[in-house]
Amino acid sequence: MIRRESPCKVNFLLNVLGRRTDGFHELETLFHPVPLTDLLTFELAPTGATGIHLTCNDPGLPVDSSNLVHRAATRFLALAGLGDRGLQIHLEKRLPLAAGLGGGSANAAHTLLGLNELFAHPLKPTQLDSLAAGLGSDVNFFLQDRPALATGRGERVVSLEPFPALHGSWMFLYHPGFGIPTPWAFAQLPHFPSALQGQPGRAARLAEHLRRGDLESAGTAFYNSLEAPALYKYPVLRLYQEFLRQHGAWATLMSGSGSTTFALFPDEGSARTAVPLFESEFGTAGWLRIVAL
Ligand code: C5P
Repeated sequence: MIRRESPCKVNFLLNVLGRRTDGFHELETLFHPVPLTDLLTFELAPTGATGIHLTCNDPGLPVDSSNLVHRAATRFLALAGLGDRGLQIHLEKRLPLAAGLGGGSANAAHTLLGLNELFAHPLKPTQLDSLAAGLGSDVNFFLQDRPALATGRGERVVSLEPFPALHGSWMFLYHPGFGIPTPWAFAQLPHFPSALQGQPGRAARLAEHLRRGDLESAGTAFYNSLEAPALYKYPVLRLYQEFLRQHGAWATLMSGSGSTTFALFPDEGSARTAVPLFESEFGTAGWLRIVAL
């Protein structure tokens, strides 16, 4: 049996550069890994059994071929010439859905990596990369475990060295209990022309501030084009950010297409102090985590 912790991400920056003819959007993004995980386990089915048997602790998540884990496993077996093999996969979902944290994309990537391990590496990294790109725009990022700059739909990923200046920082994450569907967020952008037509270069600039340890410049350079529609429809998301900034966060932003808000605190103490203050202001119904970077 193979066990894999399937992590998540935030986007320190997501700059939409325009709509493409294939319906996707060209973008540049700075991904940062977040060590909060779902758990995946992979086992060969008993001899003679074929097909993919996926189970999940969350009854809200379909376990049929619409699930990204199922799709990733099917495509892996087909490309590896293992279509006659049977698999049992279990997904223990701990991360919120439709959260902008890439949880489903990470599950897909870690299914590819886990199955490649289970079958003694039949596929090369380039083959895993092309399978990942076909599964979703964020999946390629999760084939590696570093911060990364990504372009195209988000699938062209360049890994970066971890940022030493973030060592010791703590991240605060809050999902308010409602999700924002990614297609909806992108589809609203024509109502926000400047968010639809960003100028390239912002992602590399933020990465450079972080690399140099210039957190003051970095703090003002976090940006997400998809906040325009999301904060318009859900103004409470703006209040979370104002509150977190007033209570010691040096950067805060909505991640991906939302609805998770994240904030960076200089140390564990300031992140821990913010938790009860945030809960007394906004309640305890949402999903709140703090984690060391
Ligand atoms: O690739 P993924 O499945 O994550 O994309 C979900 C949806 O988000 C797409 O169907 C599309 O509507 C939108 N999207 C986009 N441009 C991107 C990534 C996603 O328009 N670069």
